[in-house]
Amino acid sequence: MVYQQEMKRLVELITSSNTIVAFTGAGISAESGIPTFRGKGGVWEKYDPEKVASIWSFLENPANYWEFARDFEARFFNVEPSPGHLALGELEKIGRLEAVITQNVDGLHQKAGNTRVIELHGNTAVIRCLDCGKEYTREDVFERLEIELPPRCDCGGNKLKPDAVFFGEPLPEKPLSEAMDLARKSDLMLVVGTSLVVYPAAEIPLIARSHGCHLVLINLEQTPVDDIFDIKFYTRASEVLPSVVEEVRGIL
Ligand code: APR
Ligand code: ZN
Repeated sequence: MVYQQEMKRLVELITSSNTIVAFTGAGISAESGIPTFRGKGGVWEKYDPEKVASIWSFLENPANYWEFARDFEARFFNVEPSPGHLALGELEKIGRLEAVITQNVDGLHQKAGNTRVIELHGNTAVIRCLDCGKEYTREDVFERLEIELPPRCDCGGNKLKPDAVFFGEPLPEKPLSEAMDLARKSDLMLVVGTSLVVYPAAEIPLIARSHGCHLVLINLEQTPVDDIFDIKFYTRASEVLPSVVEEVRGIL
């Protein structure tokens, strides 16, 4: 296996650091079968994010989002955590991970056993009517989606919106400040499966770096800020995380 040196160094960092945080993006869910947004075969090659995932386009016509969701979101129903998710769950279990800060909205970190998951972009598990505030589960709404597009609320309103952050919406205050706080306190951040092009989320590793945190990148492709990383693995999360956790568990 390549990256022998980097693996050894990463194991040392994980066993010797005090506050370890993971920062993840769509790439860690790719091996669960959820396509990434960018990179080869990314979702934004097929759909225009402005049209299907911006707040202004949603308010103009909620069908713009729900047509996309019927294709893209439907995959969330029966997906399982990837080896990368499970490794991060294990890392928390052996007391070597404080929290996961994620840009993902698929809830897979929680499914993998992580108990402190900071969802910067919200999640799609809860769907709310913007007219009357009534809450629905994803299952409820997808049942309605079979009958009508866009799906309607019992109140007759048609603006059923998931609790995920759409383009043009501010990030939820509490998770963002919690993530920034952790970035300032952490001495090791594992950045997994993200292109680091969407702000303010992509700011988090930069804040960590400016406070002296060690940064490790595990990403299939290069990112615009690769020079901030101490160690870089240009490979799948499943190639690195499970074996590193195995090694760490053997040492602790
Ligand atoms: N292991 C590691 N990295 C991977 C894997 C894998 N198995 N598969 C793909 N990748 C990498 C890709 O090379 C890419 O650089 O994951 C990255 C995913 O990047 P994006 O698709 O841009 O996802 P992300 O960075 O999370 O996007 C941020 O953009 O569209 C918005 O709100 C959306 O939260 C999302 C935000
Ligand atoms: Zn309603």
